Amino acid sequence: MKLTDLETPALILDRSRLERNIVRMRDHLSRLGVVLRPHVKTAKAIDVLRLALAAQPGGITVSTLKEAEYFFTHGVRDMLYAVGIAPNKIAHVAALRGRGADVTIILDNVVSAQMVAEQGGAMGVEFPVLIEIDCDGHRSGIKPGDAMLIDIGRILYGGRGTRLRGVMTHAGDSYNCKSVDEIRAMAERERAAVVRCALDLKRAGLPCSVVSVGSTPTATYAENLDGVTEVRAGVYMFFDLVMAGLEVCTIDDIALSVLATVIGHQQEKNWIITDAGWMALSRDRGTAKQKVDQGYGVVCDIDGWPLTDLIVAEANQEHGIIADRNGGALDLKRFPVGSQLRILPNHACATAAAHAAYHVVDGGAEITAVWPRFSGW
Ligand SMILES: Cc1ncc(COP(=O)(O)O)c(C=O)c1O
Repeated sequence: MKLTDLETPALILDRSRLERNIVRMRDHLSRLGVVLRPHVKTAKAIDVLRLALAAQPGGITVSTLKEAEYFFTHGVRDMLYAVGIAPNKIAHVAALRGRGADVTIILDNVVSAQMVAEQGGAMGVEFPVLIEIDCDGHRSGIKPGDAMLIDIGRILYGGRGTRLRGVMTHAGDSYNCKSVDEIRAMAERERAAVVRCALDLKRAGLPCSVVSVGSTPTATYAENLDGVTEVRAGVYMFFDLVMAGLEVCTIDDIALSVLATVIGHQQEKNWIITDAGWMALSRDRGTAKQKVDQGYGVVCDIDGWPLTDLIVAEANQEHGIIADRNGGALDLKRFPVGSQLRILPNHACATAAAHAAYHVVDGGAEITAVWPRFSGW
C-alpha cells in the first residue's frame, strides 16, 4: 500500500526519523551517565515503545492509568505514573500492583500523602511514591527549601501503606525558553532543584534512591546530570514544530505528519482547502509565541519535503485552509483537487491523540506497517 491509497486524514510516522531520534537521545544521556525512562504519553503504542526500549531496556513513564494497563499487558512492569495521584485512582493502582505491575506514584502535598498512606495500610498494599518538586514555577510540586518536603517525607516513610522512593521534577517551563542558552540554564535549574531536595531528605534521615528529572528540551541540552538517577522524556521520539522552534530539533527530525487531501480552492482568497482540520491536526497553536508562528502546521509535499511558501493558516473542525505564508498569490494549479499534502504538527502529543493508528513509512511513499495507538483514560 502507498500513501496515495490511504483515506485521509491519516497519521504518518517516518520510522527512520523515529529511530534516529531515539538513538540520539539514548546516546546523549548515556554519555551523561543516566538512564532514560521514556515517557509514553505521546507514543501510546507498543510498536513505538519496542523501538525505544530496544535502544535501552528499562522502565517507562506514563501519564494515564490506561497507558499503565496497556503497557503492562504488553509486558512492561516498571512504570512511573507521573501525574499527582487522585483519591479515585488509588484502587486502580493497587489492582495493577496486585497483578505484578511495579507502579510508582507521585504527590506533592500532605493531604495526598496521608490519604495514600492510610488507604495503602487499609488495603495491605505498599505504594512506592516520589515527591514532586517544582523546579520552575510551571505547575505543581513543592518548591526546593519548603519544609513541607520533610513533612511529606516523614508521612510516606512512616506509613504502612507507602514507601518513599525519592523525588521527581519536570521543567515544563523549558517550552517557553527563548534561546538554547536559556534551555541549558533550565536543565541545570531542574537538576539542582531535585538534587537539593534529595539531600534535604537524606539529611532528615529519610531515603531517596530515585532522583528523576525530565522534559525533551532540558534532556537534549543537559550538560551535567550529577546526582540525577533517571531522565524522563517523551516527545523526543517524534519531535514537532514547537521543538523545532526551540532549536531542540530540526524540521527534518519531525517523524509525525498528517496526510491531507486537497478538496477545493478559493481562487480570489488564494486558499487551498483540505480535509485535515483541527480534529486531525489539533487546535494546538504552540508556535504562536515563538519566533516563527507556524499557524496550524508546516505544509510538505507527499514525500515529506517542506513547501516553505505555504502554511496551514486556518483550521475548522474538518477543513484546513492553506495559504501563502506571506499572504501572496498562489499558483493553485500546483495543488489540484485530489492531490495530497503532509502537514507537520505543532504539538505531536495533541495531534497523535486524534488518530487511532500510525501509518508507518520508511522515508518513501510505501506504507510498511500500521501500528495501532489509543487515546483517552
Ligand atoms: C511529569 C512529566 N515528565 C516528563 C514529561 C516529558 O516531557 P517531554 O514530552 O517534553 O519529553 C512530561 C511531559 O508532559 C511530564 O508531564
